[in-house]
Amino acid sequence: MAYLRRFLYFSAMVTFLMTAVLTIYYGKETFHVTGTVSGQMKMKSAYHFVLIPEELDNEYWKLVQDGASAAAVKHGVTLEYLGPKQANMDEHLKTIDMAIAGQVDGLLTQGIVDAEFTPLLNKAVQKGIPVVTIDTDAPNSDRAVYIGTDNYYAGFLAGKALLADTRGPQTVGIITGRFEASHQKLRVQGFLDAVKNETRVRVADTKESSITKAGAVKAAYELVKEFPDLSAFYGTSALDGIGIAQVMEYLKKKAYVVSFDTLPETLQYMEEGLIQATVVQYPYEMGYKGVETMLQIKQGKAPEGVQHTGTEVIRKQDLPLIPSKPEGAQVK
Ligand code: BGC
Repeated sequence: MAYLRRFLYFSAMVTFLMTAVLTIYYGKETFHVTGTVSGQMKMKSAYHFVLIPEELDNEYWKLVQDGASAAAVKHGVTLEYLGPKQANMDEHLKTIDMAIAGQVDGLLTQGIVDAEFTPLLNKAVQKGIPVVTIDTDAPNSDRAVYIGTDNYYAGFLAGKALLADTRGPQTVGIITGRFEASHQKLRVQGFLDAVKNETRVRVADTKESSITKAGAVKAAYELVKEFPDLSAFYGTSALDGIGIAQVMEYLKKKAYVVSFDTLPETLQYMEEGLIQATVVQYPYEMGYKGVETMLQIKQGKAPEGVQHTGTEVIRKQDLPLIPSKPEGAQVK
């Protein structure tokens, strides 16, 4: 009996120790890596940064990642790219929290909704982890720097483009990535302000795409059905213009479309005349500068708090000027 008890006690101890060792091991594997971005060279990196976008599998965010990786390789920094595979606010927040728990050396992410992101970003800063917001700012948080488009101005440019390119009365449908996302709100507000004094322009409705192509298709289709006089569209996130163009192509209808970003499909639709204008952003540059700026912070420097990357509107005639490399692949 005593032998059996000792055996059971010994087994329980072994199980407990194994579990503890595995938890520490996998925790470290997730957020304490050694090696370069590619993981090919086993050398100890100076720093370990994490880039957390709202959607990993998004062509726009892959460009941000490309830029960030290039800077990380150049400076011998370990960079991880983690987050929700498909846009999901809870997962985004959870990943940020995990990165804080993992005591990374620097956090690059967005500040999508003030109420939820600001306290979490402040928690990171309180724990000694500097935060650089990319693409979407959290101006009320303790983040050190914002690097990305001036989203209000970009929306304003889209509105001005519609005014310049259209004549006569216009009924506009807006498709936005997420109603509650601060950068999407700014893009809508900028647009509305640009057209507000033009009585010939009427915004019929604003619908959400949930930043997916399927969501944009659904929203565009509903807008066309609900407003038979719809003559123009404005899409405020990277996949919205593509969804709108697909619907117009399918329904064989014509409309003026101003979209966001210069993903290959968008440029293709511009070439075909289904998208008339698009707002250019520089995601590669955002990622590249993000990592370099984080390094400056780690070195005790105080970089400029708001660093806007460029933005402008391009049309079909500007397409030859677009480099064949992905959007913003050249760091200005
Ligand atoms: C925005 C990103 C967003 C992406 C979605 C871009 O225009 O800047 O924040 O995640 O669109 O496709």
